[in-house]
Amino acid sequence: MAVGIFDSGLGGLTVYDAVTKRLPEVPFVYFGDNANTPYGVRTADDIYDLTCAGVERLWDEGCDLVILACNTASAAALRRMQEGWVPPDKRVLGVFVPLIEALTERQWGDNSPPREVAVKHVALFATPATVSSRAFQRELAFRAVGVDVEAQPCGGVVDAIEAGDMILAEALVRSHVEALQRRMPSPEAAILGCTHYPLMQDVFQDALGLEVRVYSQAQLVAESLADYLHRRPEMVGPGQAAKLLTTGDPKKVGAKATQFLRRQMTYEAAFDDD
Ligand code: DGL
Repeated sequence: MAVGIFDSGLGGLTVYDAVTKRLPEVPFVYFGDNANTPYGVRTADDIYDLTCAGVERLWDEGCDLVILACNTASAAALRRMQEGWVPPDKRVLGVFVPLIEALTERQWGDNSPPREVAVKHVALFATPATVSSRAFQRELAFRAVGVDVEAQPCGGVVDAIEAGDMILAEALVRSHVEALQRRMPSPEAAILGCTHYPLMQDVFQDALGLEVRVYSQAQLVAESLADYLHRRPEMVGPGQAAKLLTTGDPKKVGAKATQFLRRQMTYEAAFDDD
């Protein structure tokens, strides 16, 4: 009864942590493509190929449902995967929609026309690939009107986090927040549109100021997955074992993951030749 969680590296662990706490009875299989991270500076074709390879590996583990705990893959590859690649008995879901539903105060499956919402000025922090895809604005436009979104491509932050250089990551976050504030001085809400960024959430909040509501995905995705599995229990696949897979060095990746989540994280190689 396993469910797969995919990310380019360590960022999806923020989602993994939330879903394992929310759904302790479900074995989750996590796939981190640490050898190929960051995705945020890759082309859409490249992101599509890497994401499909990771998702197929999770299907091999008996995960019929895979959550792309990666905004970059959700933005650059998910639609193409859903339209022509995912077989009818499998599902691949992204992480944008729960976030946008929270921002626009909608319930799951509310397909009513777009309407005015309380927030008018939204800052979006995401990887360069996610920002240039405009997927966030597209999904938002289906649900809300009159929302001004200012997006900041946060180059370098994922690389710094993956390298474990949190001092550099903090300096980069502060400079990206400043750059955004020059274009939008007083956003009401800020979206952390990359699953690596909750690892820097305190820095974002501090740089933005306490009056800005910071939305991050982990908890929202966990609630949304619990709701989905309640309605579609058959989508929990036949896999039995929880595991952590990486295309990187399992020891090194495990050490960083253990440090981030403050609990023992033991990885195995995703592919035999890694
Ligand atoms: N955690 C991925 C995301 O949510 C990271 C991207 C990357 O590898 O650049 O976008």
